[in-house]
Amino acid sequence: MTIAPSLSPVPQQGSWQSHPAEIVSILEEIETVSTYRMRFRDPELARSYRFKAGQFNMLYVPGCGEVAISHSGPPDSDTGDFLHTIRVVGRVTEAIRALEVGETLGVRGPFGNPWPLETYRGRGFDVFLVAGGLGLAPLRPVVYQLLKERDHYGRIGLLIGARSPSMLLYSEEIRAWESSGIEIQRTVDRADRDWHGSVGTVPLLIDRLRGVRLDRTAMLVCGPEVMMHYSAQSAIRLGLDPSAIWVSMERNMQCGFGHCGHCQWGSLFLCKDGPVVRWDSAFSKMRVRDL
Ligand SMILES: Cc1cc2nc3c(=O)[nH]c(=O)nc-3n(C[C@H](O)[C@H](O)[C@H](O)COP(=O)(O)OP(=O)(O)OC[C@H]3O[C@@H](n4cnc5c(N)ncnc54)[C@H](O)[C@@H]3O)c2cc1C
Ligand code: FES
Repeated sequence: MTIAPSLSPVPQQGSWQSHPAEIVSILEEIETVSTYRMRFRDPELARSYRFKAGQFNMLYVPGCGEVAISHSGPPDSDTGDFLHTIRVVGRVTEAIRALEVGETLGVRGPFGNPWPLETYRGRGFDVFLVAGGLGLAPLRPVVYQLLKERDHYGRIGLLIGARSPSMLLYSEEIRAWESSGIEIQRTVDRADRDWHGSVGTVPLLIDRLRGVRLDRTAMLVCGPEVMMHYSAQSAIRLGLDPSAIWVSMERNMQCGFGHCGHCQWGSLFLCKDGPVVRWDSAFSKMRVRDL
């Protein structure tokens, strides 16, 4: 069965105003990547703040700048805490790395369309998540949600690619997910002496999938654009309908709520029409050079 999924719009906090959020803890995941547990200073905001898997916040370091960062924690935390997994690449992320537990960042959000779980929940769909490198961070909230609502889905698979074994994110937690019945496959570009798994890129893992119910499978893909492109091609070769494949387009953002035009991608403003986009909508734009 192929259904025509649609994204239900999520109420956006369309504002430039940041709210102070305290860093509650910092966990170094792998080299240059850490997960920050955060909580709004305002108790009322901390209590009421909600987000959906796939959405992002704008994190502001005063005097330095603002960056878009996806949620990487459970969407339904009772404590009001939320998690961001951040790779240090430049000015603002360097400034975030210099912060310590107890210090604050400005946070506004959540922004963007979530992963389309509501489209598939309760319809007996299998869901495959495909992550390249840090692309696992925006998919981790999906794993939490799928596990929480396990009975509403069929087979759940997670295909993970990383440059090397030491670059695999959330390794311990992934072992726990495996024990909970998620089918996990990992691959690395470059193996080391202790690696006995697959070597190669993530699309190869899709090529090797067996028993996929083509009319009842959704695939959610997150990672570098080239990885998402080839993953979607592999999924289509397998027989999946492009309307069942979703990608997260992480282009540069500024306002986050459709006002500045900074994230325009063809007819879409990725901050509000994305970052999660259906493959049949993304494909034609990806082919346009420099778009
Ligand atoms: C919707 C969305 C969700 C994101 N989620 C996360 C996340 O969960 N964790 C995380 O670490 N990062 C995430 N990013 C990327 C993050 O926003 C950038 O890494 C950050 O803006 C870099 O800022 P900077 O000032 O540290 O580096 P800059 O000095 O601005 O840039 C340093 C280098 O990083 C490159 N770069 C900048 N922005 C991006 C980008 N969006 N994608 C790829 N390369 C970029 C630049 O081209 C440059 O080479 C997300 C981006 C978007 C749009
Ligand atoms: S970031 Fe301003 S319109 Fe999207």
